[in-house]
Amino acid sequence: MAEVIVVEDGTEGGALVAGAIRDLISAKPDAVLGLATGSTPLPVYRALARSLAADPLDVSRVRGFALDEYVGLPAGHPESYRSVITRDVVEPLGLDPAHVAVPDGTLATLETAGPEYERAITAAGGVDIQILGIGRTGHLGFNEPGSSFGSLTRVKTLTAKTRADNARFFDSPADVPMHCITQGLGTILRARHLVLLAFGAAKAHAVAAAVEGPITASQPGSAIQLHPHVSVIVDKAAAAELANLDYYMYAWANKHDWQGI
Ligand code: PGA
Repeated sequence: MAEVIVVEDGTEGGALVAGAIRDLISAKPDAVLGLATGSTPLPVYRALARSLAADPLDVSRVRGFALDEYVGLPAGHPESYRSVITRDVVEPLGLDPAHVAVPDGTLATLETAGPEYERAITAAGGVDIQILGIGRTGHLGFNEPGSSFGSLTRVKTLTAKTRADNARFFDSPADVPMHCITQGLGTILRARHLVLLAFGAAKAHAVAAAVEGPITASQPGSAIQLHPHVSVIVDKAAAAELANLDYYMYAWANKHDWQGI
């Protein structure tokens, strides 16, 4: 069962996850982080940056792999996930940019980009902790409904709903790319620890479907039920449709400190 942790807000959730990442890096200085983009994980990166500034830790050997990238944006486009990861993660945390990979959405080399990304993750020894958001469609990464639980990094077509949700980052909705390259659900499930964050009422349905719904490709988030170590960090609004919420809160309140998340 995924562990569901209800926090007051993104700030509290971000601090909790940043603490777990810090502990991981302390124990394993060449830890491999799975990095999500979007608004949801920002409090994690901000809390970790603050923690590293206040109490430095050697992060020079930390590696990172982003979940996904748009296809066909020009190099250096500010909304490419390469740019976002550089701005939100690599620079604030002081990571070595050479150690942080993002799937390559360049059209000319798209055919081989997926398998190459998979090889790079495997060569790094796999992802230790995978940060995840969840879309209103239930997507993890850009694995839209219907994505195979065995899928690996590949090109996908974004749903109209996801393109509309991401239009806020672009000048016009038509500028949101139609295609993306994303780690598959199978790739994500290979990470050793999944940490899924969701805040706000708009995510309540996707969270309930992921945690408690039937396991189905129609709800890609439900793939987390197949993983042995999942932490779901939600605020009250995102937790609102969980049938077993009382139990999750009771279990968290009575958990031993040594267990961490
Ligand atoms: P968001 O996106 O964090 O910006 O809401 C999450 C997602 O689409 O996976």
